[in-house]
Amino acid sequence: MTFTLTKERQQRIDFLTLYKQEMKQTDEWLAERLQEAEQPAFRLTTDELTYGARVAWRNSNKCIGRLFWHSLTVFDRRDVLAPQAIFDALVAHIDYATNGGKIRPAISVFDQKRVRIWNHQLIRYAGYETAMGVIGDANSITFTKTCEALGWCGQRTNYDVLPLVIQVDEAPPQVFELPKEAVLEVSITHPDYDFGKLNMQWYAVPIISSMRFNIAGEDYPAAPFNGWYMGTEIGARNLADADRYDFLPDVARVIGLDTARNATLWKDRALVELNIAVLHSYKQAGVSIVDHHTAAQQFELFQQQEQANSRDVTGNWVWLVPPLSPATTSIYHQPIDNTVKKPNYFYQPQPY
Ligand code: ARG
Repeated sequence: MTFTLTKERQQRIDFLTLYKQEMKQTDEWLAERLQEAEQPAFRLTTDELTYGARVAWRNSNKCIGRLFWHSLTVFDRRDVLAPQAIFDALVAHIDYATNGGKIRPAISVFDQKRVRIWNHQLIRYAGYETAMGVIGDANSITFTKTCEALGWCGQRTNYDVLPLVIQVDEAPPQVFELPKEAVLEVSITHPDYDFGKLNMQWYAVPIISSMRFNIAGEDYPAAPFNGWYMGTEIGARNLADADRYDFLPDVARVIGLDTARNATLWKDRALVELNIAVLHSYKQAGVSIVDHHTAAQQFELFQQQEQANSRDVTGNWVWLVPPLSPATTSIYHQPIDNTVKKPNYFYQPQPY
């Protein structure tokens, strides 16, 4: 017990020291703030929280998009405690982030102890097990059952947007349906082939809501954050994985590939065309998206920028390497140190 207290105290000191350095505060400022940090009533300022959330992004080893860490908008929602007000703040986050398609990275930080959002992402499709196979996103099956047990009823299409499930303290969680206007979606079309009958679509903004934001020895379990998509997340994983939407065989059929033999590389060809379609569709709809080659170049820029500021870039190679044509990007060819720095975003146990 004393050990964890000491560790948390040390992390508080480390964070304030980092803030002082990077935000060019005076020695007097730090001395005073460190003294305040010993008081039980200590609370990070909104400026500190804001900087910490940005650094937590900079420290996110799995993220290829970190060049833009400094542009993160931070909504300090630590005082929003009523479920309805939390829901309104989340819809406001979605609206701000979506911005009519010109996506803006943002995070909303809620109370440290009292608020928990049960969703994995604020916008996510439901998944249902049926006698004829899975409808929707197989990844959401358990959470969809949880929502139904809480009284929600989905329409059982392939793309039912799940409701938000918000819990405050030990009260039962409350379920809120997202307004249709809040959820921007993109139908997937291909510039050369007719993908119409495949009925593929995805949502515009990925907003992870299941991770805890760790800063200055404190955990914020409800701190949903978003960037924009890299095309392969949708085209090489969500719509392509055999245990997700599994569209590769259908795509292969539409473009006329021989799927009987592995050696025709029909999966690879279908994968490339699906990823072309995703990038094309988002671009046409005016929704921000980045291809994996550009993202890898941006990551290289980030590495140079960090080096210029005398900081080591840490990273998780397995996650940074894109799932499509990995060896065509520079990331593939260099080892990278996976040391975890704080502040950061961490996994936490599911509440359901
Ligand atoms: N890979 C996740 C998904 O496909 C989203 C993770 C966050 N991605 C991002 N570009 N910020 O939904």
